[in-house]
Amino acid sequence: MSSFFTCALDKVLIHLCSCVGGEVNYARNQAYVIIGTLVEACLLTEEGQDKSKVKMHDVVREMALWIASDFGKDKERCIVKAGVGLREVPTVENWRSVRRMSLMDNMIKNISESPDCPELTTLLLQKNEILNISMEISELVSLRYLDLSGNRGIQQIFACLLELEKLLYLNLEGTGLESVSGISNLSSLRTLRLQYNKIYSNVIKELKLLEHLEVVTIEICSMFVADQLLNAYREANAIQELSIRYIENKSILTLLDMAVLSKLEIYKCEFAEIKVKRRTSLWNRSPTTPSFPNLSTVRLVFCHGVKDLTWLLFAPNLKVLYVENAAQVEDIINKEKAANILTEEKASTIIPFRKLEDFEVFFLPELRSIYWSPLPFPRLRIFRIYSCPNLRKLPLDSKSGSSIAGEELFIHREERDWIDKVEWEDEATKERFRRFNRPSN
Ligand SMILES: *[C@@H]1O[C@H](CO)[C@@H](O)[C@H](O)[C@H]1NC(C)=O
Ligand SMILES: *[C@@H]1O[C@H](CO)[C@@H](O)[C@H](O)[C@H]1NC(C)=O
Ligand SMILES: *[C@@H]1O[C@H](CO)[C@@H](O)[C@H](O)[C@H]1NC(C)=O
Ligand SMILES: *[C@@H]1O[C@H](CO)[C@@H](O)[C@H](O)[C@H]1NC(C)=O
Ligand SMILES: *[C@@H]1O[C@H](CO)[C@@H](O)[C@H](O)[C@H]1NC(C)=O
Repeated sequence: MSSFFTCALDKVLIHLCSCVGGEVNYARNQAYVIIGTLVEACLLTEEGQDKSKVKMHDVVREMALWIASDFGKDKERCIVKAGVGLREVPTVENWRSVRRMSLMDNMIKNISESPDCPELTTLLLQKNEILNISMEISELVSLRYLDLSGNRGIQQIFACLLELEKLLYLNLEGTGLESVSGISNLSSLRTLRLQYNKIYSNVIKELKLLEHLEVVTIEICSMFVADQLLNAYREANAIQELSIRYIENKSILTLLDMAVLSKLEIYKCEFAEIKVKRRTSLWNRSPTTPSFPNLSTVRLVFCHGVKDLTWLLFAPNLKVLYVENAAQVEDIINKEKAANILTEEKASTIIPFRKLEDFEVFFLPELRSIYWSPLPFPRLRIFRIYSCPNLRKLPLDSKSGSSIAGEELFIHREERDWIDKVEWEDEATKERFRRFNRPSN
């Protein structure tokens, strides 16, 4: 068991950070299989409501580290000192033997040593207080995986960082980064995580120069950058998480097909409309081919301007939809628009929200319709409605939300009276959902 264990953990890391072009999905699936096996063997436990995280028990972790250090013979091969309140980089006897180092979640402010670690491939420094890496990080010639996320105050890409030619994975999320100028020098990069930073400048230009890029997370805060993305098919197609924030421009936001996109958040923007520019001409594909096959979470918050989210018809695998404080949203899916973007016949073959599990709408004063006819919602479990005074019809019939597992779809509502004003499809539907509704919490 033990050698299987190290081997498996090793594979997860290696797979996740060193796969070459096109293999990313294969490697990701492999990694999931390995993690699944470890969960089954109780070496990892699942965490969180949706079990999207795994955790290792301290004792198991100690054992894993012991195995990874060649059964204690090479203690410095993997240095793991996470969340132990370190204020500086720990003393290491032989830097040359260090292969992986995790110093995440400490209080390290200053890294100015320049240790010689030719074997170091993975360096985890997220959630520290590092403002400036004046260390000759460029000496870390083998580094492939570097995580600096959550270190507020890294405004620019350090020149020395750009010399890490072998870097495959770089995480700079939530660092306060303002510019990515020069990042295209990291020519091996496969994954670049830049979310939670307001980057206004030539980010798309830099991304275009990174030939091997497969996964990007990014926040866009200017119409100029949003527009640039429209001419960047390859780069758009690598975006896994996208936040569009604080854009006051009242024109139309156009999104491209994004095959990898999994999370989209639009926050405090004033777009009049959100549209999808589909690549039908290039692929000559059916009008029902999804533009966003992997999109699972959409959040739209404080967006006064958009009237509908009809484009969600192209996101068939959506699991979570959250719409809050959007003063002008009238329909989630608008019938006329749906008929315009699809032909009448195709529109009737698309059954939206078949994978939806969690649907929440809050403070939508103009919302009148979610969809024009009842939908099956086979996976829907949370349907939360709060302060949508004009929503009278719900796209539900007596069979909506029925699952094989026999779990029930509940309507969570805040206002007592609201549910009494709903116009139900028929008596059976009314009967069913009057039983299965409960106050929101
Ligand atoms: C960082 O560490 C170096 C060497 O340990 C020291 O000379 C320097 O003053 C430190 N800088 C800060 C800002 O603490
Ligand atoms: C980082 O440290 C280097 C060398 O000590 C210094 O020249 C540079 O100005 C510092 N940068 C910031 C943003 O503090
Ligand atoms: C980045 O690449 C350019 C062009 O290849 C080169 O001139 C420059 O020195 C590189 N910068 C760094 C910091 O490596
Ligand atoms: C808003 O965006 C449109 C389209 O991208 C652009 O033509 C226009 O100049 C922008 N308006 C402002 C005020 O930035
Ligand atoms: C995207 O979706 C397709 C089809 O559902 C799937 O085969 C692929 O693995 C997904 N890719 C990612 C990066 O999740």
